[in-house]
Amino acid sequence: MTERPKILVTQKVPEPAYPLLKAIGDVEANMEEGVIWPYDELLQRGPGHDYIYSLLTDNIDARFLEACTAGTPRLKMIANMAVGYNNIDVDVATRLGIAVSNTPGVLSDTTADLAFALLMATARRIPEAERYLRAGKFKGWGPLLFCGAEVHYSTLGLIGAGRIGKIMSKRASGFEMQVIYYDVYRMSLEEEAAYHITYMPMDDVLRQADFISVHTPYMPSTHHLISARELSLMKPSTILINTARGPIVDERALVKALQSGTIAGAGLDVFENEPAVEPELMTMENVVVLPHIASASLKTRTLMATMASDNIVAHFHGERPPNIVNPEVYG
Ligand code: DGY
Repeated sequence: MTERPKILVTQKVPEPAYPLLKAIGDVEANMEEGVIWPYDELLQRGPGHDYIYSLLTDNIDARFLEACTAGTPRLKMIANMAVGYNNIDVDVATRLGIAVSNTPGVLSDTTADLAFALLMATARRIPEAERYLRAGKFKGWGPLLFCGAEVHYSTLGLIGAGRIGKIMSKRASGFEMQVIYYDVYRMSLEEEAAYHITYMPMDDVLRQADFISVHTPYMPSTHHLISARELSLMKPSTILINTARGPIVDERALVKALQSGTIAGAGLDVFENEPAVEPELMTMENVVVLPHIASASLKTRTLMATMASDNIVAHFHGERPPNIVNPEVYG
């Protein structure tokens, strides 16, 4: 009989994820909702597990991976419940023969919905206007009261047009926006025509767009992809939206650009040193800030949660996990 593997789940996740894991192994889980184990606790708990079901808040670095492969059982796989896996040192995992998986696809529509909501909220100053009303300041309709930017017929610039960026272009078509994009991988002409989207070099996208929405993965080549130079190319009326990863945008440079009027506003769901946020961003009325909730619908989070479990179950049964990010571990 195959020995039951030991599985560690590092944060409380949607309920349907657990029975899938319990059917194959012994599960140790952090069941305290909203509690994120600090690194030292993770380091202490990780070793002795075959599988780790991780979240993007877990720093799965070389030290952690090495500690988890030193004993018995040795760690076999990290299943991240997120499409992004920049919290994991995949190179080290690969070197140690540890499989890594993510949860792509199931969150793309939900993330694009939120990115578009953030665009609308920032353009039409919705949170600012709501704060004003709740503060009892609304004394009646005014011709200049909370005039914002128009979304319809404007130009949306996508930095990154993978799964989520493409869906963003579909959302934009409902507002009759012109959509331009830059990505290191250019789509085929057929795909560009299907999405009504025009490829341009990145600097041209930055110069021409009224709204710029970031949809690239975070990796060394996208660190501070949007920095002082890129911000300086944008129009003073431009609004920047980031639902991808915080460090893609140089947050200090963004604060300066917003303070100096280099750009008009920003809608941010992610931050460079998350959960910390540059204090100035918290006080600026032309900035909308959200606590990394782009994929947060219960349906989507449940799909992500069960997908991460399915990846572990597949590995346990000797199959290649469907969402493996380092297939090299299979030789
Ligand atoms: C991801 O999956 O990478 C998102 O940031 C959270 O859903």
